[in-house]
Amino acid sequence: MTVFPPLLSRRLWGRSFDSPIILAGGTAGFGTELILTDGGCLEGVAAVVSKSVTLNPRAGNPPPRIQETEFGLLNSIGLANPGVYSVVSHVLEQSVNMSCPLIVNVAGETEDEFARVVQVLEGSPVPWAYEVNVSCPNVASGGLPFGSDPRAVERISRTVAGVTARPFCVKLTPNAGSLVETAVAAQEGGASGVTVCNTFLGMKMDWKTGTTLLRKKVAGYSSPALLPLVVARVWQVSQAVSVPVLASGGVARGEDILELLAAGAEMVQVGSRLMRRPHAPRELLQEARGLLE
Ligand SMILES: Cc1cc2nc3c(=O)[nH]c(=O)nc-3n(C[C@H](O)[C@H](O)[C@H](O)COP(=O)(O)O)c2cc1C
Repeated sequence: MTVFPPLLSRRLWGRSFDSPIILAGGTAGFGTELILTDGGCLEGVAAVVSKSVTLNPRAGNPPPRIQETEFGLLNSIGLANPGVYSVVSHVLEQSVNMSCPLIVNVAGETEDEFARVVQVLEGSPVPWAYEVNVSCPNVASGGLPFGSDPRAVERISRTVAGVTARPFCVKLTPNAGSLVETAVAAQEGGASGVTVCNTFLGMKMDWKTGTTLLRKKVAGYSSPALLPLVVARVWQVSQAVSVPVLASGGVARGEDILELLAAGAEMVQVGSRLMRRPHAPRELLQEARGLLE
C-alpha cells in the first residue's frame, strides 16, 4: 500500500534499503567502474543495474552512438558488452566488495538466449537479481522488440523463472504494444517485478545534409521532459500488477523520485542524470529528504 507522502526507506525482494535509488542499466557499467573513479558515486544508491549482458561478446553499434540534444540524450550503444562468459570469469568478481547489491541486466537475440545467459550467471555468487531487457530486437521476428509481444514476454519470463531462484524484473519498452498488457504477461510468466520503462525512440537529423547524427539513425531518447510519460506508465502498470514496479526514466530532481513513488513505484532508477552529475544519487536523496522534512 502506498503511503503519502511516500517513504524513502523501501523493501525490495526481501531486502530493506534506506534509499529508493537504483542506478539504471547501461549508465553505470557494472558498478565497479564507479568505485574505481570515485567511491562517493555509490552514496545513496540501493542497488546497481549492470549494462546489458548477452551470450556472446558484442561490439555494439558503430560510432557516433551517443548525442546530447538540447533537452536530453540520444543513445544507440547497441548492447556493447564482453559476453556472459567473460563477465562471469573476469568482471563480476570485482563487484564483490561493492557497497550495494548488483542486479545483472540480461539481453538476448532469441527468446532462448535470455535464460541461457541467466544460466551462466547462476555460476556466480555475485548477482543479487536480474533485469531482463526485452527492449532489444527479436532477430527472428524482423527486429521488433521482444517487448512488443506480450506472449513472447510471458514465455521469456517463464524460461528465466525456470533456471533461477533469484528475483528478476522485466524491463519493458514504451515503443511498441501495450505496456500494461506486457507487464501483466511478465508477471504471469513468473517475473518478480517490472521496470517501467526503457528509452523512447528518437532521432536527430542534420537538416543541411539529410543525414542522421547517430550512425544507427533511430536511437533511444532519455530526457527529464519524459518524466510525465513515465509517471503515467508507472501508475497504469502499478494498478495492473501486484509485483514491484521499478520506475526508470526522466529523473533529474529529488521531487521526481517522490512523484514516481507516489505513482506506485517501489524503487526508482536514475540513468542519464549520472552523466552530468556522477553524485546525483546523493544529491537527489538529500533533495527528497529536504522536501519531506
Ligand atoms: C548511454 C545509455 C546506455 C544505456 N544502456 C542500456 C542497457 O544496456 N540496457 C538497458 O536495459 N537500458 C539501457 N539504457 C536505458 C537506461 O537504463 C534507462 O532506462 C533510460 O536511460 C531512462 O532513464 P533516465 O531518464 O534516468 O536516463 C541506457 C541508457 C543510456 C543513456
